[in-house]
Amino acid sequence: MLSRIRERAKAHEQEIIDLRRHFHMNPELSWKEVETTKKVVAILEKLGYTIVKKGFGGTECGVIADLKPGKGATCVALRADMDALPLQEENDVPYKSKNDGVMHACGHDAHTAMLLGAAMVLKDMEAEIPGNVRLIFQPAEEHGLKPGAKAMIEEGALDGVSAIAGIHVWSLTETGKIVYRSGPFMAAADGFELTIRGKGGHGSAPELCHDPIIPAAQIVNAIQTIVTREVCPRETAVISLGKFQSNSNAFNIIPETVFMNGTVRTFNPKVQDHIEDAMNRIVTAHCAAARCTAELKYIRFIPATINDPAMTSLLTGAATELFGDASLVETELIMGSEDYSFFLQKIPGTYFNLGTRNVAKGTDKSHHSPVFDLDEDALPAGVALMSAFAWKFLSSAC
Ligand code: NI
Repeated sequence: MLSRIRERAKAHEQEIIDLRRHFHMNPELSWKEVETTKKVVAILEKLGYTIVKKGFGGTECGVIADLKPGKGATCVALRADMDALPLQEENDVPYKSKNDGVMHACGHDAHTAMLLGAAMVLKDMEAEIPGNVRLIFQPAEEHGLKPGAKAMIEEGALDGVSAIAGIHVWSLTETGKIVYRSGPFMAAADGFELTIRGKGGHGSAPELCHDPIIPAAQIVNAIQTIVTREVCPRETAVISLGKFQSNSNAFNIIPETVFMNGTVRTFNPKVQDHIEDAMNRIVTAHCAAARCTAELKYIRFIPATINDPAMTSLLTGAATELFGDASLVETELIMGSEDYSFFLQKIPGTYFNLGTRNVAKGTDKSHHSPVFDLDEDALPAGVALMSAFAWKFLSSAC
C-alpha cells in the first residue's frame, strides 16, 4: 500500500510544484491569506472534498475539509500553514514573489502545496482509506499574538479528530531526509515587558532621586541566575533581553523609568511556570530594595511543541517503509517555536521536518531570510509521508 502512495505522490509531482510556485508568486501575510484560501478551496471542491468550514478568527482565511469514504468513523488530520513573511524577496527565480515586501521565506507555500498533493493522493486511493481524513489549511502561523492554530481549534478544527500530523520544510537538512523527534521538539516562546518606575532628577544629586537604572541593571544579571541556579541543569531554558531603555536621553538626568523586554524559551511547562514566578519574585524584590516600583507583563505566546511518542513511531515507521532507514534523522531540540503546538495540546500527533537543503541549487539559506528557497525535489516525499501517516493511523485504529 505504501509503495502505491509513493507512486501516486510522484505522479502528482508537477502539479504540486506548479502549486508551490503559484503560492510562492502570490504570498499573503498572516490573517491576510484570502486568495490562498480561495485557491485551496477551489482545488478541494474540484477533488470532491467536503468543505467543513472556511474563514477563521473573524477573517476569510483558513479552511478545513474532510474526505469521508464511509469506512469507519475514526478521523485523522493533516495540517499545513499558509502565511508568508514581511520580506522583500532577493532570489532571481521565475517564480519570484509578485507582492512587494511579502515573501514565502519559510516554505509555507510548499506546505500548502504538499497538503493539496496529499489531498490528491488520498482521493486517488479513496476506496482503500479505512476511515476519515481532515485537511487543515491554517492561516497565521507566524502571528505570535493571534496564532492561527489556536483560532482554528477554538472554532472546531479538531472536533471528532483522533490524531494529527504536520510538516515543515527544513533548509538545514539534506533534500528528502525526514527530521523527527519524539517528545519535546520545539520550544515554547514567551515574552516579557518590564517597566521600572523611580523618581528622576539631576545626575549630580542621586540622594534626591530613586534611580530606576540601578535595580534594572541588577535585574538584567539576576534573571540569568534563574537559568543557572533555579532550573535543573538537565532541563533547557534561555532568557534573553531585546531592549533596555530609560526615558532619559541626556547624560546628566536620572530617568523616571526604565523599560526592558525580552524572550523566554523552554520545553518543560513546569520550568516555564517556575521562570515566570521567579521573574516576578526577583523583579519585585530588587525594585522594592531600590525604592522603585515594577510592572512586569509576562506573555505566553506559543507553547512547546511536544510530539506524542506513539504517533512519532507511526511516522518513522511509515518513513522507513517509504524511503528506508537512511532517510531518517533524529534532531536535537529546536529552540524556535511553532503554533502547531496548540494542536498537540489537544490530541496526540507529531510534527516533523522535511529536508530541502541542496547546496548546488542554493537552497541551504536560512529560513526567514530574503534569499530562502527550497529544493522542490523533496516535495513528493512530503506528500507521500503525510498521506502514509493518515493511512497507517486509520489502519491501526480500525
Ligand atoms: Ni515556518
